[in-house]
Amino acid sequence: TGMFTYDPGFMSTAACQSAITYIDGDKGELLYRGYPIEQLAQKCNYMDTCYLLLNGELPNAAQKADFEDRVTKHTMVNEQMQFFLRGFRRDAHPMAVLTGLVGGLSAFYHDSTDINNPEHREISAIRLIAKMPTLVAMAYKYGKGEPYMYPQNNLSYAGNFLRMMFGTPCEDYKVNPVIEKAMDRIFILHADHEQNASTSTVRLCGSSGTNPFAAIAAGVACLWGPAHGGANEAALNMLYDIQKQGGVEKIGEFIKQVKDKNSGVKLMGFGHRVYKNYDPRAKLMQETCNEVLAAMGLEKDPLFALAKALEKIALEDEYFVSRKLYPNVDFYSGIVQRAIGIPVNLFTGIFALARTVGWIAQLNEMIADPEYKIGRPRQLYVGSPRRDVP
Ligand code: CMC
Repeated sequence: TGMFTYDPGFMSTAACQSAITYIDGDKGELLYRGYPIEQLAQKCNYMDTCYLLLNGELPNAAQKADFEDRVTKHTMVNEQMQFFLRGFRRDAHPMAVLTGLVGGLSAFYHDSTDINNPEHREISAIRLIAKMPTLVAMAYKYGKGEPYMYPQNNLSYAGNFLRMMFGTPCEDYKVNPVIEKAMDRIFILHADHEQNASTSTVRLCGSSGTNPFAAIAAGVACLWGPAHGGANEAALNMLYDIQKQGGVEKIGEFIKQVKDKNSGVKLMGFGHRVYKNYDPRAKLMQETCNEVLAAMGLEKDPLFALAKALEKIALEDEYFVSRKLYPNVDFYSGIVQRAIGIPVNLFTGIFALARTVGWIAQLNEMIADPEYKIGRPRQLYVGSPRRDVP
């Protein structure tokens, strides 16, 4: 049965051609449509980044205003969504809720979800980008038992999200500009990352011709796993564990455990399939971490100090050096989100919100490609040969 190449984990198979995101894992370089992530984080905001990923070019002022206008027109979700939410337990994991809500969105737009129709793809893209912050915030508020906050369209994308998360109807919510910028940066850094597991899932799911909401819901489901989007949650829990055991002095013992392959313990937030150098997003995230902690008066935050000490020790350790294991984006993003007040179990939901634009850009690219076919991997059959039922 040697007709097909056997490549578990897609270690050496390119499943598509793409002009969206470029990663040079050895150099630690990440480009969206050719632009370095550092420059985008410095000079652009998330709306520019969304426009860039979807259209291939950065918007001029008029294009940006028009795009923002279209997004803000779609920030509300149908009131019926509240009843869907009510079916969940209050303590449901937000990712379980979000997978359902995103898939459920398609039910409201039956007349405009034909994935092969460019106009339908366009309106679905705007709807998804506009509604994700609303859905994530609703999942959070539901768990807390607080009233939902309707979107407020004179705020920025990040500002509106923060208000829906932390505002209440009883008082005016003031967006802190440092937190707003940090939130926006988290969105930019997570916006796309070429053919990772969730993006490949979205492509494969969409290749059957299903509707865009269903394909993005598949991406949300895939992202949930701890080896992917769940890693920031796992990284923060790891830091809490080390802290509980005694903090910085216990790092040596923890590293010893990580090196023991039988322990099953990994240094979460370290290592990457593609980056064999410092993840450029981790550097930007560390910068944001400094800014946010300073703004919150948490410069002496023991968890941040612990993370920095752990990073330093790991980067000098032969085990990590020889395997080219460096911090990835998730190493610091949990600390930033915790400082903002986002609960740990919502971290992956924030990642899903930010990655939605990347998933859509990749889906659109696939559908627009004349060579696109339904995705259908082959297998090497190793089961029983033909036999008769006795
Ligand atoms: N801690 C300890 N050892 C590690 C780690 C780690 N975090 N990551 C890799 N290794 C070891 C691994 O055990 C293997 O050792 P050996 O050669 O002795 O068997 C070697 O390094 C190569 O690792 P691998 O598992 O073959 O690499 P992979 O490309 O299959 O896995 C990974 C990549 C990200 C799943 C893995 O590095 C990992 O589990 N890291 C921790 C979880 C994490 O931070 N994930 C976030 C990824 S970035 C965000 C995203 O994409 O969602």
